[in-house]
Amino acid sequence: MNKWRIKSLDSILATAEKKSLHRSLGLFQLTMLGIGSVIGTGIFVLTAEAAQKAGPGMMISFIVAGAVCVVAALCYAELASMVPVAGSAYTYSYGVMGELIAWLVGWALILEYALGASAVAVGWSGFATGLIEKGLGIDIPAFLTTGPYAPGGLINLPAMIISILVTTLLVIGTSESAKVNSILVAVKVLALTAFIALTIPLMKGQNFTPFTPLGWGNPLGTSGLGVLGAAASIFFAYVGFDAVSTAAEETKNPQRNVPLGLILSLGICTIFYLLVAAGAIGAYGAQPVYGPNGEILGPGSVELAARCQTLAASAHEPLVCSREALAHVLRSVGHPAVGNLLGVAAIIALPSVVLAMMYGQTRVFFVMARDGLLPGVLAKVHPKFRTPHVVTIVTGAFVTIAAAFVPVGKLADYSNSGTLFAFALVAVAVMILRKRSPERHRPFRTPFVWIVAPLAVIGSTVLYLSLGLTAKIVLPAWGVVGLIAYFAYGYRNSHVAKGITEAVPLNEDAPGGPA
Ligand code: ALA
Repeated sequence: MNKWRIKSLDSILATAEKKSLHRSLGLFQLTMLGIGSVIGTGIFVLTAEAAQKAGPGMMISFIVAGAVCVVAALCYAELASMVPVAGSAYTYSYGVMGELIAWLVGWALILEYALGASAVAVGWSGFATGLIEKGLGIDIPAFLTTGPYAPGGLINLPAMIISILVTTLLVIGTSESAKVNSILVAVKVLALTAFIALTIPLMKGQNFTPFTPLGWGNPLGTSGLGVLGAAASIFFAYVGFDAVSTAAEETKNPQRNVPLGLILSLGICTIFYLLVAAGAIGAYGAQPVYGPNGEILGPGSVELAARCQTLAASAHEPLVCSREALAHVLRSVGHPAVGNLLGVAAIIALPSVVLAMMYGQTRVFFVMARDGLLPGVLAKVHPKFRTPHVVTIVTGAFVTIAAAFVPVGKLADYSNSGTLFAFALVAVAVMILRKRSPERHRPFRTPFVWIVAPLAVIGSTVLYLSLGLTAKIVLPAWGVVGLIAYFAYGYRNSHVAKGITEAVPLNEDAPGGPA
C-alpha cells in the first residue's frame, strides 16, 4: 500500500480490458458525440450573460475560453489514449496523483455535471417559455417561469419538468443512440447555421463599438466582469467535450480517434460560436445594460432583472435581457418565424445535453462507488430496468431543485468552477506522468507538452479567478464538504487501501447512457 494510495495504472487498464465494453464508435460518431454534448445552453442562452459582462468583446471571450479548452483537450487526449477507461479526470487522477486528489476531482465533477445539467434545464425553460408566450401568444404566470431572482418569480417549473423527465428516462433506461444523437447534432447545427446566414448580412460596424465597454476584467477582482469574466462564464459553452475521452472504452482505435475527435469537435464548435456571436452583435447589438445612475448591473442579479423588466416594453429589448438570446435576435431583426423555429430546435435538442450531463454524473458516481469511495447502495441496479436507479434519482433530485431556484448564469459559473479544477489537475497529471513513467507507451502525445500543459493549468486558473466572487467561493466550500465526506467514509472503505484491485462489477453495461 502506498502512502498516497495511487492506483496502479496497470490495474486500471486491466479493469478496462475485463469489462470490455463493445467498441462501436468511429471518428465520425465520436465527433458527433463531442459536438452533441458541447453545443447547448452556452451558445443558445449564455450569449446574453456574456454580453452583460463584456459587450461585443465577448467575441474575444469565446476565443479565450476555446483556447483554454484546446490546451486542456490536448492533455485530456494523452491520458485518454493511455488509459482509455471510464471515469475520465477522476480515474486519471487516481492513477497519477492518488486517492485524495482523485476524490477531490470526482467531487468537483459533481459541480460540473449536476449543476451543468441544471443550467441546461434552465436554458431549456427559457426557450420553452418564450415559444409558448411569444410564438403561441399564451401567457404563463411569471411566478412559475423563473426562480425568486427575478421580479415576480418563485419557481422555474419548466426547468423542473424537464429535469424530472430526463431523470425518468435515465431510470427506465432510455439510451440515446448514436443515430438519435446525430439527428440532434444536425438540428443544432442547422439552427445555428440559419442564425449565422440570416444575421451576418445584417451586421453594422457601429454595433461593435465600444468593443470592450467593461474592459478586460481582473482575475484578482470580485466582479466577474470584463472580457475575462465573460470568458469564464462562456467557457460553459465548450464543456462536454470530455464526453469524448470518457467514451474511449467504447471507441474503435481510441489511440487515433479520441484525440482527433476531441480536437475536431472543439474546432467545429469554436468556429460556429464565433460566427454566431458576430451575427448577434453585428445585427442586433450586445451592449451591457446599466442602472438608472449609469452603474453596471451584475448578470443574474435582481437589479438587472428589474431593469430588464422596465426595458422589456421598449422597441429594442436588449440582448442581455433575453432568456432565449438567439431566438430573440432573429425575431427582432425581421425573422420571427425562423426565431420560433430556432426555439423549437433548442427545445428538441437541449434535453439531450441535460441527459448527457446527468448520465456523466451517474458514471462518475459509479466509478467512485466501484473504488469503494462511495457507498455501494448508490450503485444499486434496478431489477427490471437494469439501471442505477438510486444514484440517478438522487442526482435528479439535486438537479431539479437547483434548476428550480437558481439563475442559469450562476449555475453555469458554479459548474465551470468544478470543471476548471478538473482541467488543471488533468494537465498536472500529464506532466507528472511524463516525468515518472517516461517509458510508458503513449499512443497520443500532447505536442509541446511543457508548454501546452502549463498553459492549460494557467488558463484554467485564470478563468477560475475571473469568475464572480460567489462562484469563486463555491469550489473551495464544496471541497471542504468533500473532504469531510471523504474522511467520514471513503478513506476507510477505499478498495485501494484494502488492497482490492479487482473491479467489483457494477453493471456498467446497463442501458442508460449514450450508445
Ligand atoms: N456546453 C454545454 C452547453 O453549452 C454544456 O449547454
